[in-house]
Amino acid sequence: MKFFKRFPEQVRRLSVVFLVLIGGFLLVRFMLPPEMKDSELHVKSTVERETVKPVKYAGSEVCADCHEEYNLKKHGYHRNLSCETCHGTAKEHSENPTEIKPFAPKQREFCSRCHTYDRSRPTGFPQINPIAHNPLKPCVQCHNPHDPKPPTVPQECQACHAEIARTKAVSKHVLLECTVCHEAPQEHKVSPREVKSSIPSDRDFCGKCHGTEATDQISPKVDLTSHGEKYLCWQCHYPHQPEIK
Ligand code: HEC
Ligand code: HEC
Ligand code: HEC
Ligand code: HEC
Ligand code: HEC
Ligand code: HEC
Ligand code: HEC
Ligand code: HEC
Repeated sequence: MKFFKRFPEQVRRLSVVFLVLIGGFLLVRFMLPPEMKDSELHVKSTVERETVKPVKYAGSEVCADCHEEYNLKKHGYHRNLSCETCHGTAKEHSENPTEIKPFAPKQREFCSRCHTYDRSRPTGFPQINPIAHNPLKPCVQCHNPHDPKPPTVPQECQACHAEIARTKAVSKHVLLECTVCHEAPQEHKVSPREVKSSIPSDRDFCGKCHGTEATDQISPKVDLTSHGEKYLCWQCHYPHQPEIK
């Protein structure tokens, strides 16, 4: 230690910097493998390393030889997805189809990966809420995965208010048509911003079915004079899914 103390502080610090630089130089010069220093060698060894790996993807054209799904998919909404996006790597299968079977993803979770509503997806990308959109049934029961057009064209209100329609579809109000509560003039469906639909205006509207005097048999009754005090019913109950959880 005494030896070092002989030098001034600055020189001691500077010598540390030099030691690090010399160490680094020696490391690069003698310890790094040659392909990390020579770019040509680097490319060559990378290509060698990658080409010995087994090829796992066959590419969609190969499937066309044996499967009609290829032509079906070509014109449908899924035309830009490759077969192996859904079926997994299938090179081995296409060489030995009877022994090796690719999987077919039939679970709802699989389709939901791409189709669950997510606001970061581009506008117009078909999205659904998998909890509300025809729950429990497998997607492929209604949508052919190779040509997934919706089985029915949306009903008139649903075409523009799809999320509301789907919410109502899994609520206690499922059987009420939109027009039970909204008067929608024909022109609303053409120029919705100029011609508005009506919205119920008071508590008595819901009372028609839910008041204690109402003759409707199946809807549960509440005492309009006390239940919810003076507030509008839809300040507490979302009318398209009125259950309070
Ligand atoms: C050489 C012909 C051939 C090629 C090429 C081929 N398949 Fe097949 N594939 C078959 C045959 C035959 C079966 C049916 C086997 C059976 O049902 O016993 C089959 C079955 C399947 C199945 C159903 C598996 C199941 O469990 O029912 C899927 C999915 C499939 N192939 C996907 C693909 C994909 C994706 C490709 C392209 C990467 C492909 N196949 C390429 C012949 C082929
Ligand atoms: C969006 C995902 C998706 C894509 C893309 C896709 N498939 Fe499928 N495929 C499925 C699903 C899900 C099933 C299972 C359907 C069922 O059981 O009703 C299936 C079933 C199959 C079957 C079995 C059919 C049967 O009747 O058992 C074959 C063969 C097949 N696909 C081939 C292909 C080929 C070839 C391509 C490319 C041209 C392709 N698939 C592209 C999802 C997909
Ligand atoms: C890898 C992502 C991906 C997966 C997985 C996927 N899709 Fe799609 N889907 C798409 C794309 C991309 C489109 C076309 C969007 C477009 O045309 O703008 C589409 C379109 C659709 C449409 C058309 C909706 C419409 O009317 O515009 C339906 C229905 C659909 N998919 C159902 C399914 C089903 C069912 C599955 C599961 C078997 C599935 N998708 C799996 C990407 C995916
Ligand atoms: C009981 C039948 C049924 C099942 C099950 C079903 N769908 Fe649909 N799907 C429909 C119908 C009908 C439409 C068109 C009307 C609508 O938008 O509700 C549709 C529309 C769609 C659309 C287009 C939405 C838009 O705004 O353009 C997508 C995407 C879709 N479904 C994906 C799926 C996925 C993913 C699953 C599984 C998680 C699934 N569907 C399960 C019947 C079904
Ligand atoms: C062509 C698409 C389209 C169709 C079809 C459509 N709507 Fe609308 N609707 C809209 C748009 C867009 C708005 C939002 C207008 C705005 O905020 O200025 C709207 C707003 C509404 C409103 C809210 C009005 C308000 O004052 O806030 C109600 C209620 C409504 N629609 C009910 C319906 C009913 C019921 C049907 C079916 C009979 C229907 N709509 C069919 C596009 C449509
Ligand atoms: C039980 C009566 C009832 C039914 C059935 C009903 N609505 Fe409504 N809706 C209302 C009430 C009440 C409001 C006002 C809610 C508010 O202002 O918070 C409303 C608001 C709306 C709005 C504007 C606010 C929003 O949530 O975006 C639209 C759009 C709408 N409804 C469309 C529809 C469509 C489409 C259907 C059919 C699928 C439908 N409604 C069925 C009672 C109903
Ligand atoms: C045309 C009759 C009708 C109108 C109008 C109506 N409802 Fe209903 N409501 C029903 C029926 C039918 C049920 C379901 C009964 C069942 O299946 O248990 C129901 C169920 C309910 C429930 C009970 C949900 C649960 O947890 O069981 C609430 C809360 C409710 N409605 C609120 C409202 C509100 C708020 C309005 C006004 C915006 C309204 N309803 C308008 C017929 C109506
Ligand atoms: C201040 C909030 C509030 C308002 C406003 C309100 N409710 Fe409720 N409602 C509730 C709560 C909380 C429940 C569930 C607990 C209960 O049964 O009291 C409920 C339950 C109900 C039920 C189910 C009763 C049953 O027996 O299952 C109906 C039907 C109902 N409300 C209709 C209405 C109608 C119609 C209006 C307007 C006249 C209204 N509510 C206004 C909070 C409210």
